[in-house]
Amino acid sequence: MDWGMKNRISRILKPETGKTVMLAVDHGYFQGPTTGLKNVGKTIAPLLPYADALMLTRGILRTQVPAETDIPIILRMSGGSSVLFDDLSDEEIQVTVEEAIRLNASAITCSAFVGGANQRSTLTGLAKLVNEGERYGIPVLAVTAVGKDMVRDSRYLGLASRICAELGAHMVKTYYCEGFKKVTSSVPVPVVIAGGKKTPEKDALIKARAAIDEGAVGVDMGRNIFQSDSPVGMIKAVRAIVHEGVSVDEAYKIYQGEKRSKAAKSRKKK
Ligand code: 5RP
Repeated sequence: MDWGMKNRISRILKPETGKTVMLAVDHGYFQGPTTGLKNVGKTIAPLLPYADALMLTRGILRTQVPAETDIPIILRMSGGSSVLFDDLSDEEIQVTVEEAIRLNASAITCSAFVGGANQRSTLTGLAKLVNEGERYGIPVLAVTAVGKDMVRDSRYLGLASRICAELGAHMVKTYYCEGFKKVTSSVPVPVVIAGGKKTPEKDALIKARAAIDEGAVGVDMGRNIFQSDSPVGMIKAVRAIVHEGVSVDEAYKIYQGEKRSKAAKSRKKK
């Protein structure tokens, strides 16, 4: 691995712990104005100090993130479908690597729909992105997107994640599942988990703790942070799990403490 590639990866996987808290706000690329992301700039401003990297599209990066912001960018390169269309796998690479470089991306990312109608084109898109990434020293994060008909079990997610790594992805983002150790132990590159649909805060923290215990190097979490009743509390709590190894109960106290202190401040203002 050359110096540039290693340097970019080390901006995301923090050298002190080898772990990462990525904040995912790319949902609009197929969902439009997702709950909590109507005004992305406003949502992310208080969260950025606690995120190790920001995953988003070029449109949101250009318009919502001040260029002076010091955070590694993971740029979504794929798109082309929407929630109005039955087949979400109908997407392709739409951003050039030259533009990713101009936008100073630390990593580039796309979804791979293993077992879906567009398996071949999305995997070929991933492989091409890896070719380009290797040329310029930019790591590729592959996202194992799961079609409606697929079961999110360790057999499927292990297969999809391994295929992404075999095609050259430098990091893989997948979902947590029962028997997650089977997934991480057969993928030879760092694995992070998506948070998935919004769940009660404690459940999201249990999932993050279990993922780390079972070999993930971190999270790429969106809705369970920005849709929380205390987004800052949640990202601080997740951060403590990922980087400090705290228990679920300790992390939950961090979330509750932040929520309480914000409520107290807003009472004072009134
Ligand atoms: C969509 C994505 C999202 O970034 C991903 O789902 C992470 O967000 P969440 O934690 O809300 O699931 O990659 O394909």
